[in-house]
Amino acid sequence: MVDFHSHILPAVDDGSKNTSESLKLLSMLSSQGVDLVCATPHYLADRESVDEFIIRRDASYNELKQNLSSDSPEILLGAEVAYYDGLSNLDNLEKLCIGDSRLLLVEMPQSRWSEYTIKELINLACSNRFTIVLAHIERYEVIRNRELLERLLKSGILLQINASFINGISTRRRALRYIADGWVHFIGSDCHDTVHRPPFLGKAYSFIERKLGTEFLSDYAEFQREFLFDSVN
Ligand SMILES: [Fe+2]
Repeated sequence: MVDFHSHILPAVDDGSKNTSESLKLLSMLSSQGVDLVCATPHYLADRESVDEFIIRRDASYNELKQNLSSDSPEILLGAEVAYYDGLSNLDNLEKLCIGDSRLLLVEMPQSRWSEYTIKELINLACSNRFTIVLAHIERYEVIRNRELLERLLKSGILLQINASFINGISTRRRALRYIADGWVHFIGSDCHDTVHRPPFLGKAYSFIERKLGTEFLSDYAEFQREFLFDSVN
């Protein structure tokens, strides 16, 4: 199974504080059946350049790599890029895509999205430079705006939800419907630590398997891998 969104790299952002915590998170993910983890630390353009971020991120990964056990999930490096109006003009934005794919995980503002913002997102998605994936889409009111959601999907934007949306008793039915309808392409633990925001992906994937079947789940995993490893996407 794939964890598309995580903060498992040590001391890069507000996620894992050190290598020991990162190893515990990876062990938890592995025990939940996750064999591929996208490491997506927060990237904020007003704090540092893309190149500065990548140097910090890669140094953290290299430190972690020396301590990984042989049964650790595979790790792909990426970022959770904080959206701002003008993001499309940021130098080297492509370097923040996950692994060798063209998937760019973007975190949107909590406030209502302006038409300018929506157009910039769609322009980015249509620019052929990226495949935009919107992080934890359940956090935004767009999730209840079917017309806007369809507009985003039609422009090639993909959607990610957090495992907590699938695990929540009051939200799981809705989450399942979005997945079954093909509106949600990726699921992430968005884990930050082992205590307050630990990974609960195993529970989420088990629920999907129970409700939609083993074949659906294996097709879903295959589809996710194709996106991550096919450099055309
Ligand atoms: Fe996150």
